[in-house]
Amino acid sequence: MINLDGRVAIVTGGVQGIGLGVSLSLARAGANVVLAELVEERIPAAVAEIEEVGVQALGVQTDVTDASSVDQMVCATLERFGQIDILVNNAGLVIKKHISEQTEADYDAVLGTNLKGTFLCCMRVVEEMRKRNTGAIVNLASQAAFRYTIPHVPMLPRRQALSR
Ligand SMILES: NC(=O)c1ccc[n+]([C@@H]2O[C@H](COP(=O)([O-])OP(=O)(O)OC[C@H]3O[C@@H](n4cnc5c(N)ncnc54)[C@H](O)[C@@H]3O)[C@@H](O)[C@H]2O)c1
Repeated sequence: MINLDGRVAIVTGGVQGIGLGVSLSLARAGANVVLAELVEERIPAAVAEIEEVGVQALGVQTDVTDASSVDQMVCATLERFGQIDILVNNAGLVIKKHISEQTEADYDAVLGTNLKGTFLCCMRVVEEMRKRNTGAIVNLASQAAFRYTIPHVPMLPRRQALSR
């Protein structure tokens, strides 16, 4: 196990699913964890679960698609912990509808969260990491990127999808 004692990790959407798993793993390695989550009601239970591990957890209601919200989350992190060592861009959105049923708003929500959200968090956190000349960023993606949106078309093996 990597020793992350005293490190500070931000996990976007880190209150459930893969994000909570990542947050708990970071906590078990000794890192204090900031949960930057859109849905406020999901935060307290996750904070309690992480603190049970014996580290500190801070939940900050955050919308990663909004630069001012990301800035507030980073400021709250620095106020509490004074540094940021790790950023995990986990917050993600999938709208499982056929493309013919999707709306422009669906497109904006998905790209806004998965791409712009990752960009905004990286942009703001890198600013802080550069001051200390250290830090690590992990961006989550999905093999769904290689999948057609047309139903009944099987997923291609990754190598084949890449060669198209
Ligand atoms: N679940 C899978 O099978 C799978 C597979 C491949 C990749 N992924 C990727 O892993 C990541 C986590 O997936 P999951 O299934 O655990 O997700 P999830 O939907 O269970 O959790 C995502 C969390 O992100 C939060 N969130 C959404 N929009 C947000 C925003 N604008 N600002 C802040 N928080 C926001 C949600 O409220 C939620 O708590 C995603 O990026 C997803 O694309 C998931």
